[in-house]
Amino acid sequence: MTRRGVLIGCGFFARNHMHGWAGVPGVEIVAVCDRDPAKVEAYRREFGVAQGFTDAARMLEEVWPDFADVATTVETHRPLVELCLSHGALTICQKPFAATYADGLAMVRAAEAADRPLIVHENFRWQRPFREVKARVEAGEIGTPRFLRLSFRHGYDIYANQPYLAEADDLALTDVGLHLFDVARFLMGDVRSISCTTQRLNPRVRSADAFVALLSHESGAVTSVECSFDSRFGEERFPQTLAQIEGDGGSLELLPGYRLRRHGREGVTEDSVDPPVPGWGERPWHLIQDSVAAFQGHVAEVLEGRAEPQPSGAHNLQTLALTLAAIRSAARGEVVDMPVFVAAGAE
Ligand SMILES: NC(=O)c1ccc[n+]([C@@H]2O[C@H](COP(=O)([O-])OP(=O)(O)OC[C@H]3O[C@@H](n4cnc5c(N)ncnc54)[C@H](O)[C@@H]3O)[C@@H](O)[C@H]2O)c1
Repeated sequence: MTRRGVLIGCGFFARNHMHGWAGVPGVEIVAVCDRDPAKVEAYRREFGVAQGFTDAARMLEEVWPDFADVATTVETHRPLVELCLSHGALTICQKPFAATYADGLAMVRAAEAADRPLIVHENFRWQRPFREVKARVEAGEIGTPRFLRLSFRHGYDIYANQPYLAEADDLALTDVGLHLFDVARFLMGDVRSISCTTQRLNPRVRSADAFVALLSHESGAVTSVECSFDSRFGEERFPQTLAQIEGDGGSLELLPGYRLRRHGREGVTEDSVDPPVPGWGERPWHLIQDSVAAFQGHVAEVLEGRAEPQPSGAHNLQTLALTLAAIRSAARGEVVDMPVFVAAGAE
C-alpha cells in the first residue's frame, strides 16, 4: 500500500525533500502547500504533484494524509505541526524544532495526545560519515568512547540561498549548533552540563556566527563542539563536519575529503566514507542530499511500524534545551546544569 504524504513549505531546502521522497519506495507526495501560490505551482510542475494548496488547514481537510512533512522556518512549526497531528498524520518537522522549549514541549504533548509519531528532520546524524562512525563505535573498534571533537568551520556563503540567516538570533547555535549537539548525543549519549562561548565574526551578520561549546556527558565523556561560518581555508570544507572520537581502545578521525582514519592496536588504516551523489544531486551538497534521502527511508520504516523515530520530537526537545542552555551560558559566562535548567522550563 502506498503511503500518501503532503509537504508544507515549498522553499529552498524542501526541494531536497521532494527529490528524496521520489526515491523512497511505498510513499508518494500527493499534495504540496505554500503561502505563495507561485511556489506551489512551481513545485507541482517540477515534481508532478497532483494537488496544490496555499492553506495548510484546507489541504489537510481535503487530503487526510498518512504523513505530513513540515519544511517551513521555525516560527510556523508549532501551529503547523499541531494541525498535522490533529489530522492523524505522522508528522515530520524540520529543524530548528522550535524557538522555545515551551513550543517544543507543546508539540511533543500534541503527538502524545494524537498517538502519532513526531519526527524531527535532524539529518546530520543520517550523514554517511556519522553512520559509519556510529557503527564502528558500536562494533567496539575504539572501546569505550571518552572524548569527541566536532568541527564545522567554513566560509561558504550560506546567506545567498538563505538570506533570513543574516538576521537570525544566535545564528551559529540555532542553525548548525543543534545539528552538532544531536550528533554529540547520538555518539556519546545524554549531556549533564554545557558551557559555551560565542563570537560574531562577520560584520554583515546580526548575531553570533561562531561558537565553541564544551559538553559533559552523563557517561563521564566530554565533547568539544567548534562551529564557525566565517573561517578561511585554501579548500572550502563546507558542508563537512570534521570529527575525532577517542576511546580506551583506539580513535577515529573524520578528515577533510571524507577520509575516516582509524587508530587501533594493529596500526593506522584509512577508508573513504564519501557519500554517493544522488542522481538529482551534486557536489558538495551530496553529503546533505544523501542524508535527506537516508532520513526519509527511515521515516518510511517508522510509517510501517518497523522503526522508532530517529530522532523523535521528545528526544529533539532535549537537544533544543541544550541549544538554549548554550545561548544562556554564552550570555552569562556560566556552566549550565542540564537537569536543573530543564526542570526550570529551559528559560
Ligand atoms: N536540515 C538541514 O540540513 C537544513 C538545511 C537548510 C534549511 N533547513 C531548515 O529548513 C527550514 C526551511 O528553510 P528554507 O531555507 O527552505 O526556508 P524558505 O524560506 O526558503 O522556505 C520556507 C517556505 O515556507 C513557506 N511557508 C511559511 N509559512 C507557511 C505556512 N504557514 N503555510 C505554508 N507555507 C508556509 C514560505 O512561503 C517559504 O516558501 C528552516 O527551518 C531551516 O532551518 C534545514
